Amino acid sequence: MRRREFVAATAAATLALLHRGATDGAAAAGQAKIPFGAAVRDGPLQEDEAYRQALVKYCQLVVGEGGLKWVDLRPDPSTFNFHQPDRLLAFARRNGMKMRGHTLAWYAAMPDWANAITGAAEAERELTTHIETVVGRYRGEIPSWDVVNEALSDDAKASVGLRDSVWAAALGERYIDIALHTARAVDPQVQLVINDYGLEAATEKAKARRLALLDLVRRLRDRGAPLDAVGFQAHLPGDLDIDTDGVSQFVADLKSMDVDVLVTELDVIDDALPAETAERDAIVARRVQDLLAAILSVTQPSAILTWGLTDRYTWVPIWYKRNDGHPNRPLPLTDTFEPKPMMQAIQAVVGG
Ligand code: XIL
Repeated sequence: MRRREFVAATAAATLALLHRGATDGAAAAGQAKIPFGAAVRDGPLQEDEAYRQALVKYCQLVVGEGGLKWVDLRPDPSTFNFHQPDRLLAFARRNGMKMRGHTLAWYAAMPDWANAITGAAEAERELTTHIETVVGRYRGEIPSWDVVNEALSDDAKASVGLRDSVWAAALGERYIDIALHTARAVDPQVQLVINDYGLEAATEKAKARRLALLDLVRRLRDRGAPLDAVGFQAHLPGDLDIDTDGVSQFVADLKSMDVDVLVTELDVIDDALPAETAERDAIVARRVQDLLAAILSVTQPSAILTWGLTDRYTWVPIWYKRNDGHPNRPLPLTDTFEPKPMMQAIQAVVGG
């Protein structure tokens, strides 16, 4: 708790309920508010007033859709370009929101010079310097970081399946320990997260990925790495059921190792869903409802964030454009900022 600033609000709310006479701690915790937020795109943040207003209306948290990725921050080895994250942080502060950090070590969104890093010594030096500089700049301002993003290979199975990256090639799995230890040393208050996708659906592949991630977390814990939470990216395939029992078991297994969970990049990939709007929106909302219920049956996530807020600005069509010409509808607000059933599903859970 002590380390997690935005969890403090939840703790305070729980305490308030206890003081009001609730005797069952679990019931009290179930009623506390979960911070809700969204990934923010830099262009519209500067240009679209309706977008800014929607963010202020619905969100307690923001995270940059880009900006803190190496490709944005590190055009060359000696430059740190903080314009985007500084802009988002100023917006968050002006409006009483918190900002999450995404991300410090990822195989993707790397500039060419960083992809050319070789050898253990050079890799460790670059990774450490990067984390010290970036986490250090936002010390006390960013209470939660996706330290490592997508550590697992796409087809990961128990005990095997580290994703190829500059970091993994030079340092092996140890790069994750190094990243976590470095972040913790720079800002002891911050929530340290490893974040991954493909954990939620009722498929053998997702089941294998959950087991692989649990094994990784166990090894990190055994080596004494400071890990606070696992992030479900939750880019949910709309045509697949959520494995509610599997997700609940996974969350329970993490909690038994004292590792929290949060939802970091929620949206529903709707390219294979029916075209009709009401039908599509209802399925999207049901996937979200099922995932959140599966998590909440075990514990409160420390936050819930969607990857974008409005269908107007979403990454989904980059990879999952519908081939019937209808626009994607993966997010809680329509492209004109009207709440959809997905928003109701979220609000039913986060309260307030
Ligand atoms: C995506 C952004 O949304 C895009 O705008 C960008 O071009 C590419 O990256 N998983 C992640 C995010 O962890 O960083 C990705 O964001 C989406 C998938």
